[in-house]
Amino acid sequence: MAERDPAWQARARPENPHDSAHLHVTGQARYADDAPEPVDMLHLAFGQAGETCARIAAMDLSAVRAAEGVVAVYTAADIPGDNNVGPVRHDEGLLADGEVTFPGQPLFLVAATSQRAARKAARLGKVVYETQPAVVTIAEARAAGSRIEATQRMARGDAGAALEAAPHRIAGRFAMGGQDHFYLEGHVSVATPGEDGQVHVLCSTQHPSEVQHLVAHLLGVSCADVTVEVRRMGGGFGGKETQATSFAAAAALVASKTGRAAKFRADRDDDMVLTGKRHEFEVAYEAGFDDAGQILALSLHLASRCGASEDLSPAINDRAMFHADNCYFLPDVEIVSERLKTNTVSATAFRGFGGPQGMLAIERIIDHVALALGMDPLDVRSANLYGPGRAVTPYGMTVADNIAPQLIAQLRRDADYDARARAVDAFNAASPIIKKGIALTPVKFGISFTTTHLNQAGALVHVYADGSIQVNHGGTEMGQGLYVKVAQVVADVFAVPLAKVRITSTRTDKVPNTSATAASSGSDLNGMAAYNAAMTIRDRLTAFLARIHGCAAHEVVFSSEGVLAGEERLTFAQVARKAHMGRISLSSTGFYATPGIEYDRAAHRGRPFYYFAYGAAVSEVAIDSLTGEHKVLAVDILHDVGRSLNAAVDKGQIEGGFLQGQGWLTTEDLVFDGKGRLLTHSPATYKIPTASDRAKHFTVSLWDGENVEPTINRSKAVGEPPFMLAISVFSALNRAVAAAAPGKRAMPQLDAPATPERVLAAIRELAAR
Ligand code: MTE
Ligand code: MOS
Repeated sequence: MAERDPAWQARARPENPHDSAHLHVTGQARYADDAPEPVDMLHLAFGQAGETCARIAAMDLSAVRAAEGVVAVYTAADIPGDNNVGPVRHDEGLLADGEVTFPGQPLFLVAATSQRAARKAARLGKVVYETQPAVVTIAEARAAGSRIEATQRMARGDAGAALEAAPHRIAGRFAMGGQDHFYLEGHVSVATPGEDGQVHVLCSTQHPSEVQHLVAHLLGVSCADVTVEVRRMGGGFGGKETQATSFAAAAALVASKTGRAAKFRADRDDDMVLTGKRHEFEVAYEAGFDDAGQILALSLHLASRCGASEDLSPAINDRAMFHADNCYFLPDVEIVSERLKTNTVSATAFRGFGGPQGMLAIERIIDHVALALGMDPLDVRSANLYGPGRAVTPYGMTVADNIAPQLIAQLRRDADYDARARAVDAFNAASPIIKKGIALTPVKFGISFTTTHLNQAGALVHVYADGSIQVNHGGTEMGQGLYVKVAQVVADVFAVPLAKVRITSTRTDKVPNTSATAASSGSDLNGMAAYNAAMTIRDRLTAFLARIHGCAAHEVVFSSEGVLAGEERLTFAQVARKAHMGRISLSSTGFYATPGIEYDRAAHRGRPFYYFAYGAAVSEVAIDSLTGEHKVLAVDILHDVGRSLNAAVDKGQIEGGFLQGQGWLTTEDLVFDGKGRLLTHSPATYKIPTASDRAKHFTVSLWDGENVEPTINRSKAVGEPPFMLAISVFSALNRAVAAAAPGKRAMPQLDAPATPERVLAAIRELAAR
């Protein structure tokens, strides 16, 4: 596209504020819960299972029905169509049908006159369980052979033989926890019944089309009868890719049964118990390497806790495998991925979608190699980077856009890594209790849905006769700035000010059959679809103006000074009015499908990604070796967004992504009890990073380059990749822990998140070794 429009290239890195910034900060931005409520609206709550794994012998809901304010109570038997909210495999009922598979699972649905009344009544159900043995941990699931799908293997060469032949060998294992999304706006859906069986659902979801489809199937109506609308989410982070369906379906069920509007706004604690989280992983590895730290062989075993249903676990675990190389060439490699099914809430998408888990594995292996050889970890990283003759990933894709070596070198210089690493060592030699650590870790993140058919998008652009423009596309806004980016694209096509473009809610009746706004591809896909829609209209306007002004098409120019048609100069509004009078269609759809990608999942071979986004971060930390507490002192980031569509938004994504990653690896500790019940289900016990956890010194620079692929504006996706820059914090903590047991030169046994308890335990364990 960019080739068609050279003027485009000149507009580099605008910094337009988020289109809703003024509404966010003044409290005027309307979220689903802010929509005016009809007087007879019903409020909903689930009655939840108190057992982990059981057969339901009897359910007495008479007390629930008799409770104050209760209007209706429904069970699985009341669902007219498919009792399913599972996105890919139909293995997840909206309401349990005889079997409990995880604690907190919805058993019945209460509709009452207030949210409080619904929640109170939901606790009054009397359920008789026939308890069955539960499988809660990864180890228990493995012992029971409980898996959501077959163990997957991605391999090249002969890792076993190469390990035998390698001059040095290490082996290790470690674990990393999951993560709650902690979107500020919890799940909420409002269903309004229409005429003749139709229903409208206002929903906080990243995937309006999937909610539409599943609601239609559940009600036993067609997709054309269900409209799903999303103006914005107060954060999604992957937690609203599949998890909104239950709430939407419950609201739609009540609306269709009662004929009254119904709202399901999950209370925070309920939201945390009911909805999926990031997958926790256990990692085991053996690596062989030479004296220079170059990895010759790797055998990597990944095991994840997927929970009670499939959800998106196959694709998420695939992405963990795809990113277990990160920026490094692994000549003989075997990556085995076990996907374990447990009686816990189903794990789901979370920023990075398995990528962070795979990437943390290889970065820890590099740290281990460095410790074994007494090298600086950054030198080991540099020795293993993809490069000429070493450019093919374990899944057979050539890394054609590799900028990691240059990007790392620039950050190493700009952040003064070497001098600071020496200063850290000197500090540690003189400081008995406080120990510092520093690390530079890179990111290479594959962009595209690895399920190839999802890489498509549609848009709908209207030019009104007054010259104002409305844009609609299949992507959803969750704070990431997708709407303003797409609006800029359209404004640039017509060379009008951004203020002329109005972005409206995402609706399934405007753009159908959309993919989730996920995999960081929102602006790549929808930006290009909107560009194509706008160009269709511009081409019509160009032909029309050339005809009525008697000039050639190339003499019609859309510029910020107005529209030139031969000798004539018109405002865009004049052009719109003239075209309308001339009976030219001023509305168009646009479509885009990512070219050039294909993947053979059975063989784990192909080109699953259109391109890679790169980045690197240097983090410096200090730990207190008596308490295990830590502080992140300084962070310097250099990140690649190609030619930025909006540098202000991109920097926000980089900073926010990094901090969310820091939370995952340091403070956000999900504690489940032996029965798989989440004990940390509120901010009182689950600690997300706060403003004071952000390093005092925090710099973000954008890499000066453009996408080698012809993406919109030659930009790159930015939503997820920066999350993994926070692995530098974990690596720096590892170095500080190693320094707390001087003379050992051994790899700390540090699991994530590195809470004070875990840091302290790692120091103790190392000292005792
Ligand atoms: N940024 C904000 N503010 N809120 C969010 O919920 N979600 C992240 C990322 N950045 C998120 C966010 C995730 S998980 C993804 S996949 C992308 O945004 C999705 O949007 P994009 O494809 O438009 O980048
Ligand atoms: Mo993001 S985890 O792909 O919604």
